[in-house]
Amino acid sequence: MFKKISLTMAVVYGLIIIAAISTLDLLIILNYRQEQLDKNEAKHILFAEIISNVVKDTLDDTMELNGTIRENSAKLEGRVLVVNNDNKVLADNYAYYIGKQITSSEVDRARESKEQVIEYYQVDGTNIMIAAVPILVSKEVKAVVLISAYIDDILKDIQDLTRLTIGVSILACIISVGLSLILGRKLSQPIEELTAASEEILKGNLNTKVDIDRQDEIGKLAETFNKMSEELYKTDSNRRRFMSDVSHELKTPLTSIKALIESLIDGNNEVSTYKEYLVDINGEIDRLSIMVKSLLTVTRLEEMELRREQIDIKEETGAIAKLLTPLADQHGTHLVNNCQEGITVEADRSKLKEVLINLVDNSIKYGRKDGFTELGCRQTDYGIELYVKDNGQGIPDKDIESIFDIFYRVDESRTRKTGGNGIGLYIVKRIVELHGWSIKVRSKLGEGTEFIIEIRSSI
Ligand SMILES: Nc1ncnc2c1ncn2[C@@H]1O[C@H](COP(=O)(O)OP(=O)(O)OP(=O)(O)O)[C@@H](O)[C@H]1O
Ligand SMILES: [Mg+2]
Repeated sequence: MFKKISLTMAVVYGLIIIAAISTLDLLIILNYRQEQLDKNEAKHILFAEIISNVVKDTLDDTMELNGTIRENSAKLEGRVLVVNNDNKVLADNYAYYIGKQITSSEVDRARESKEQVIEYYQVDGTNIMIAAVPILVSKEVKAVVLISAYIDDILKDIQDLTRLTIGVSILACIISVGLSLILGRKLSQPIEELTAASEEILKGNLNTKVDIDRQDEIGKLAETFNKMSEELYKTDSNRRRFMSDVSHELKTPLTSIKALIESLIDGNNEVSTYKEYLVDINGEIDRLSIMVKSLLTVTRLEEMELRREQIDIKEETGAIAKLLTPLADQHGTHLVNNCQEGITVEADRSKLKEVLINLVDNSIKYGRKDGFTELGCRQTDYGIELYVKDNGQGIPDKDIESIFDIFYRVDESRTRKTGGNGIGLYIVKRIVELHGWSIKVRSKLGEGTEFIIEIRSSI
């Protein structure tokens, strides 16, 4: 309707409240008016009936009749006449009309219908009620009691009430429209904030957050929005870092290949030098192709869907231990499988295998001669833990944070010897996260390392 929720709310609520209050006002005023008039009519009719009962036997005695009328009408504010069938006034509480002829349509109608007649008039700005009540003797109309009473006081009361009601209603409308505006503003402000933040994200400022502290649905939306923007920012920075790491890593072997080739072009070399350089170039190309292959694995990993199935972990770790025992033997490391029996986990078999192979491969590669590598699983309070432990060279504290980063190697020269590219743990972490698990590492330099995968059971 309007471009702002607060305005729409104020207008809609305002209209609803105005309609409701007006209807209520009308009902109150009409009801009060009717009640007051009815009360007034009843009072006068009752008076007229009493009079007609009292005077029906003294209609011929003007003195007594007038005395009775005067006496009884003392408390009545108005004029009381008794009119006979010839329209002659037999009695008047103010004595003025006695013996005079009057014409009154109310008297005629009361006489004809033998019923009371009530009418309201306004004469020179004064409001009057006229009541005509027939005096019946043996069902015959003998005369008519005619009462005219001022009702200005009653109408003033009604007017006062009307004014008061309308005044209170207007105040109520103003307050409620004001409150609707405030409420609407309270509702639209966070939405405007969220819209502005979304626009910032659209412009590329991914870490834009909103500061909305509320416990309701809007608060929940703001919380989710903040989490979403944080996630977007993280993903984007990871992507950027990944791209820059990849470019950097690819550049190193390419630079050395170029340098080697250039020195071959420039120099007047022996065949043996050519051979030596070509061997180096070949080595760098091998390194490049391993890197590209690993990168392809990483990219595929992002795209592939998990094919989850129930896996008996002991069986899986057993198979891996068997597969990698020859490598462990080569390094003089003792590989043991210490997995508890009967633990199953829902996972993608080939990816779980990739994780365990990478971790065991590292433990063997970075283990000590005559050391051990332990592959195992155990049930814990919160679920299952899979672990790979060794008593090898360990990881320095300063590197622990970074070892899951792509291409990160603790000690370039040390790992260059073992042929590592620093991709294994990156792949491990991605697969673990894809499954919704987490991985942590405990390590002490010179004492050993333990990688633990935590699989929390969903409740
Ligand atoms: N069990 C371990 N003991 C000591 N250092 C380790 C261990 N596992 C990993 N590291 C350190 O962490 C670094 C990163 O490991 P990661 O598996 O990602 O790469 P890599 O083994 O060097 O190469 P890749 O696995 O790609 O062949 C390794 O270079 C090594 O320095
Ligand atoms: Mg590795």
